[in-house]
Amino acid sequence: MEDHVKIFDTTLRDGEQSPGATMTASEKLEVAKQLARLGVDIIEAGFPAASTGDWEAVHTIAKTVGTPDGPVIAGLARANKNDIERCWTAIKPAAKARIHTFMSTSDIHLEHQFRKSRGEALELIGEMVTYARSLCSDVEFSPMDAGRTDPEYLLEVLKVAVECGATTLNIPDTVGYMTPEEYGAMIRSIREIVPGADQVTISTHCHDDLGFAVANSLAGVLSGARQVECTINGIGERAGNAALEEVVMALHTRSQFYGISTRVDTTQIARTSRMVSAITGIQPQPNKAIIGANAFSHEAGIHQDGILKNPLTYEIMRPETIGKDSSLVLGKHSGRHAFRKHLEHLGYTLSDGEIEKAFARFKDLADKKKLVDDRDIVALIDDQLHQPAPIWVLDQVQVSCGTAAIPTATVRLHGPDGVARTDSGQGTGPIDAVYRAINRVVGQPNVLTEFSIKAITEGIDAVGDVTIRIEEEGKNHANGNASSAGDDSGTGPKTRTYTGHGVHTDIIVAAAIAYMGALNKLIAARQERMRNKSTSYTETNTPPYAMDWFGNSTHGRDA
Ligand code: KIV
Ligand code: ZN
Repeated sequence: MEDHVKIFDTTLRDGEQSPGATMTASEKLEVAKQLARLGVDIIEAGFPAASTGDWEAVHTIAKTVGTPDGPVIAGLARANKNDIERCWTAIKPAAKARIHTFMSTSDIHLEHQFRKSRGEALELIGEMVTYARSLCSDVEFSPMDAGRTDPEYLLEVLKVAVECGATTLNIPDTVGYMTPEEYGAMIRSIREIVPGADQVTISTHCHDDLGFAVANSLAGVLSGARQVECTINGIGERAGNAALEEVVMALHTRSQFYGISTRVDTTQIARTSRMVSAITGIQPQPNKAIIGANAFSHEAGIHQDGILKNPLTYEIMRPETIGKDSSLVLGKHSGRHAFRKHLEHLGYTLSDGEIEKAFARFKDLADKKKLVDDRDIVALIDDQLHQPAPIWVLDQVQVSCGTAAIPTATVRLHGPDGVARTDSGQGTGPIDAVYRAINRVVGQPNVLTEFSIKAITEGIDAVGDVTIRIEEEGKNHANGNASSAGDDSGTGPKTRTYTGHGVHTDIIVAAAIAYMGALNKLIAARQERMRNKSTSYTETNTPPYAMDWFGNSTHGRDA
């Protein structure tokens, strides 16, 4: 059996199915590069058959990140020839490529969604795993809704999958229904009963509908699973997937208990988490384990007293272990060389041009803010790297407001044709005025659904970090949405959300940058929709029945 638990990151596939988490191709590439730095074993880069955009994103990641000493690059494919072929052509450039094919096996899904008998599904699974193996030596098979599949039938399906050449058997609790005890028992039975199970990797894939995703994954590991499928910050369909950082840090911190670890570089966890929340606009709650803003804060007096005497009193992990230190490093007199060296220390490899741009922003910040620490620098660089390819570029923004004035903003933007355009707007507040002025220039109808602002560090001179979400006005999109195309339990078209992110000491400017980012994504998606037409697959979850892993009948949903 493997000597470590492989981490299969599905942030770019299952994670991207979170409402509003759709990422652009360049954002996906950025995340994939960071996942490689984090040291995950496998990156599920997307669902290539979903749309041309998805295929291209997976293909680019396979070419760029799928180096011989990099991670395996996997693509998802339904159990049909077209999906498997599309998947293969997308991942083929990777030095280590994997086809991940899946088919539902629960009676609930077979009867109500696929209208197939168990026998028909079994035959299809055998054929499609065989076909995938004829293309690629690394094939993962997932019986979707395994958690609500009749155990005997599931064991039969897995036997066929192994006989037909699957090298990994992934066991999804698609609807997050199982308890840790049940999930652990299921994995144990599979290892004991399925012929050849000892020759393949058994993998967990748990959703968090009852809050059990991480506990179920760890129960699977205790029962012999050697791959865990998870996402950064636990993002994903509905309540999300098992959170990578929680699984990894549980195995790391309680290594004596679990007796097995991962190959993840834990010091990259905080940075990866920040990157994913900046790109998706989904901020983890402050008390979220491992990466929440309060995860290492001690508020109670008695705790603070203990921590000052010895951190071991109330801390089971050090913030440095997940890369969450805030060492004070550079000031306004720091030179280019020190800045470049420090970026390398933080794990950034930037081109000369990118460093120049970042250095100019750093100097600008150091002029405005006395103390610049790593949190500021990481926020600036991540913001610089994650701004979408500009269609409209913000050149200037100016606002007048106050108790005696009607908030009024003037903006100057450069359009796709390079021509500068200026306009003004009035609003209920300065940010509303800026957005109205921008709307007058750009003319793309949209609705602002979320606006959040936070300070990166403490202090009155802190850098403001703005995240916004916008939706296309009055539209429900069936097409062009890679996220709905990859929906494994959704109920149809979703309204598409675009996220923007801006970082600046002036919060009005940060808000304007964030809005421009989201608008540019919306325009790019409208342009792409004109070019592509995506496929979509959906499922519904309806009642009843199956036997559980202890031989009792179960409804597969709440009573
Ligand atoms: O939750 C699920 O069943 C999935 C499969 C496609 C593996 O995401
Ligand atoms: Zn899933």
